[in-house]
Amino acid sequence: MAIDIPRPVLKGKKALVVGIANEHSIAYGCAAAFHELGADVAITYLNEKAKPHVAPLAKSLDAPIFMPLDVSTPGELEAVFERIGREWGRLDIAVHSIAWAPKEDLQGGLLDCSAEGFAKAIDISCHSFIRMAKLAAPLMTDGGTLFAMSYHGAQKVVANYNVMGPVKAALEAACRYLAYELGPKNIRVHPISPGPLKTRAASGLKDFDLMLNEAVARAPVGELVDIMDVGFACAYLATPYARRITGGTMYVDGGVHIMA
Ligand SMILES: NC(=O)c1ccc[n+]([C@@H]2O[C@H](COP(=O)([O-])OP(=O)(O)OC[C@H]3O[C@@H](n4cnc5c(N)ncnc54)[C@H](O)[C@@H]3O)[C@@H](O)[C@H]2O)c1
Repeated sequence: MAIDIPRPVLKGKKALVVGIANEHSIAYGCAAAFHELGADVAITYLNEKAKPHVAPLAKSLDAPIFMPLDVSTPGELEAVFERIGREWGRLDIAVHSIAWAPKEDLQGGLLDCSAEGFAKAIDISCHSFIRMAKLAAPLMTDGGTLFAMSYHGAQKVVANYNVMGPVKAALEAACRYLAYELGPKNIRVHPISPGPLKTRAASGLKDFDLMLNEAVARAPVGELVDIMDVGFACAYLATPYARRITGGTMYVDGGVHIMA
């Protein structure tokens, strides 16, 4: 059946992108791809310290909505969606590209992870996506797409990924259950699994440079991915070309995950 799609393919779409810290952030690749393909993007920044690093990027993307958001601060997520509802009246795309765990819990093995550290990691890196989906759904009156950033450490053991392995496994499972619950509303949910990228969050992992070297050595395409690879994969999934795809983990890793 022919699909009626505007040009550019995301023309007039309204997208919320959470998780830009700087120009290396995966979230920035998503926002830049959506913007290039015609969408309006709402951007958030973590706090006043982060704001000067994100503001020029929001400006370059002509973001009409630019707001603070720490998902662990009560009321801030609600305020973002309240503003989107007031200003746009609807939402088509939402990206969750945030993760956090206390350093000592992240850098130690899973056996030594504290209960508090585990709870914080899962709240910020996983449950906040569920809260986001709950607030986004009523605004996705014409259907929509939700994205969450995972990693292969959710499915297989990756040395030094530690507590983030089980946390990302929970995130991918949450995506599947949300895809099931939101499917009838024509809202699709996509866990995205990028290969390793040199970002601020990645620098918190022990021996991250070894992960990068190994990814290049093992990838069938022989190269590392960049943030625009991730952004354009999400952009495709946000178009009606992908209207029957939901819930499954999409790897953007040059094929590393297929290797033994
Ligand atoms: N870099 C990689 O190799 C890689 C690979 C696969 C998946 N990921 C995932 O991609 C996502 C984005 O990370 P990135 O690599 O772009 O790093 P990044 O440091 O650029 O982005 C992480 C973001 O999380 C935000 N954040 C942390 N705590 C928050 C909170 N309480 N409230 C709101 N925002 C908060 C930070 O402000 C930052 O913008 C993460 O989920 C990460 O696990 C990264």
